[in-house]
Amino acid sequence: MRLAALWLHLLGIVVWLGGLVYQSHVLLPLARVGDARAFVEGARRARPLAWAALLSVGLTGAYNVTQLGPLDRVMESGAALLLAGKLILVLVAVAIAGQRDFAQVPRLRRALLAGEAPGPALAAIAWLDRAVLLLAVVIVYLGLRISRA
Ligand code: HEM
Repeated sequence: MRLAALWLHLLGIVVWLGGLVYQSHVLLPLARVGDARAFVEGARRARPLAWAALLSVGLTGAYNVTQLGPLDRVMESGAALLLAGKLILVLVAVAIAGQRDFAQVPRLRRALLAGEAPGPALAAIAWLDRAVLLLAVVIVYLGLRISRA
């Protein structure tokens, strides 16, 4: 059960971050030089999978916490502090991802439907994606440190 939870935790991370890297580093640059409609459609289609993956990461993460061992050892090893830092960063990353998927992508869609320039919304999405990916780099490191604390 413990291994299955870790497996799902990592699988969810791969699906979420893999999709985000593909969108931000392949589809978004293409949208900036060409037609942004394909990007907006891709981002919309990717949304349910990304949020299902995030949900799975959160649920398995909560289970992983219960498997860390006795509380005094978790405190002494420093895992508790690492976990607290990780949770704060996860909350910030999820808030930014929400702003991207539920505010900026619909804003881009509205701009395209109204015949307006997609540039400002695409630029906002690019910045939000960079922020999430940067946070994810640190979160993955903290996850590995917690496992080995
Ligand atoms: C609510 C959210 C989360 C919680 C409560 C959580 C909790 C945990 C815990 C307790 C572990 C240690 C598991 C063990 O050693 O048995 C862990 C491992 C890990 N987590 Fe998370 N996590 C969360 C989200 C994330 C996210 C969003 C990422 C990546 C972006 C992530 C990346 C990792 C990695 C890479 C490991 C190491 C796995 C290993 O060494 O086998 N976690 N997580």
